[in-house]
Amino acid sequence: MRSFALVSALAAASIVQATPTKTPQVKPRAVSVTPVTATGNAFFVGKERFYIRGIAYQPGGSAANIDPLAEPDVCLQDIEKFKDLGVNVVRVYSTDNSKDHSECMNALAEAGIYVALDANNPLYSINREKPAPSYNADYLQNVFATIDEFIKYDNTFAFFSGNEVIHDLANTTLSARFVKATTRDMRQYIRERGYRKALVGYSAADVSSNRMQTAAYFNCGSEDERSDFFAFNDYSWCNTNLQVSGWDKKVQNFTGYGLPIFLSEYGCTSNGRDFGEIKALMSSDMSSVYSGGLMYEYTMEANNFGIVQIPKNSKKQTEKRVELPEYASLSKAMKAYPAPTGGGGYTSTTKSMACPTKDANWMVDSTLLPALPSDAKKYMTEGAGKGPGLNGPGSQNSGPDEVVEAEPGSGTVAATATASGKSGAVTMSPVDKAPFILSGIVFVFTFVGAMVL
Ligand SMILES: *[C@@H]1O[C@H](CO)[C@@H](O)[C@H](O)[C@H]1NC(C)=O
Ligand SMILES: *[C@@H]1O[C@H](CO)[C@@H](O)[C@H](O)[C@H]1NC(C)=O
Repeated sequence: MRSFALVSALAAASIVQATPTKTPQVKPRAVSVTPVTATGNAFFVGKERFYIRGIAYQPGGSAANIDPLAEPDVCLQDIEKFKDLGVNVVRVYSTDNSKDHSECMNALAEAGIYVALDANNPLYSINREKPAPSYNADYLQNVFATIDEFIKYDNTFAFFSGNEVIHDLANTTLSARFVKATTRDMRQYIRERGYRKALVGYSAADVSSNRMQTAAYFNCGSEDERSDFFAFNDYSWCNTNLQVSGWDKKVQNFTGYGLPIFLSEYGCTSNGRDFGEIKALMSSDMSSVYSGGLMYEYTMEANNFGIVQIPKNSKKQTEKRVELPEYASLSKAMKAYPAPTGGGGYTSTTKSMACPTKDANWMVDSTLLPALPSDAKKYMTEGAGKGPGLNGPGSQNSGPDEVVEAEPGSGTVAATATASGKSGAVTMSPVDKAPFILSGIVFVFTFVGAMVL
């Protein structure tokens, strides 16, 4: 049973026809749905609490380098499967901001499905090895152009400002400032351009040695620097239970965090897959702190997490999908464990954390963020213009090596909780690592961060 209120979307008549204008830009018809908002530590659609019952969607992985939301031949057949599964959010890692997305986005909207998008792609992202030069105007132009392209669709639920940039080596925490600056800039861009308030946050790797510091860092400092939510990719369930997986401890540790939290990927494969994660996420054991998650992933790729197979010779990812046994298992779990009704024990007020202090696992020694590059300021007033798409020149080395720090935020820092800065095991388990090594967009971070392997 789906928990979103899409009365308007389901009225097929609500398709707004494009009106001819004198400007060369074609205004795409947009199916009207109620956007997802955040209040306290939960998401809402209208007055109803919204839980993510989602799936990661990147046919062909990063190797195929396609944007499934720009290819109706790809997306339309998958949307039928998403409807069958009862999925209400899809996460797409690579989108082409130079292309039109109206057909796929509207078909998703009509199906009551929202979209969470990575605003980074392999060519335009923060490089954890050399973060300073990768934070620059070319990078932000691409990120902002992605916002321009997708924010017009009300079913765009959230933008990720980074994915697993910070990893298990302590020195990768030095990239946190640049990801946080990107988060700040994206939120500012949305405000300055007068857009609706789409949600922006970071999708973290689940690293025991910096999990809590990372979470605290993205929710500390002035209002304009903090995120709208925190998400992480968690592969620790593995057909166990709350205690064995350690999810009970995570619920405990994230209680009182002050922002919505969800799993931006889950789906351990090492012990069979009955998708008991859904039972846990939709239960009162977790609903007061978590707002669901996204199962990794829809298509079978080299890393073996998929639930449908696309024939291997399919370059364009358009061939008919073959359902694998895990498809039926996921479908069964989705039906057996619907979203909770009512408030689920959420907290109605937002709150911030204290910034983590520097230690052996967290190397950030300043709460100051890099300033918006001066040559990127014009985007705030003029817009980002045409995006470079998936095959642009890239931006990772376009910027200067040195960092110009922003003036400390003028907002009030309401530090009401302390981050636990305990050191933990620095090494990720192979299970945690598998999706990192092989999955979709993550490829780029593997590429720049080959030392992790
Ligand atoms: C972090 O340390 C590793 C291993 O010592 C090294 O290869 C890598 O270049 C370092 N990265 C940064 C950003 O300093
Ligand atoms: C929870 O917090 C405690 C205390 O800071 C820490 O030692 C532990 O590693 C954390 N556990 C998890 C699963 O994050």
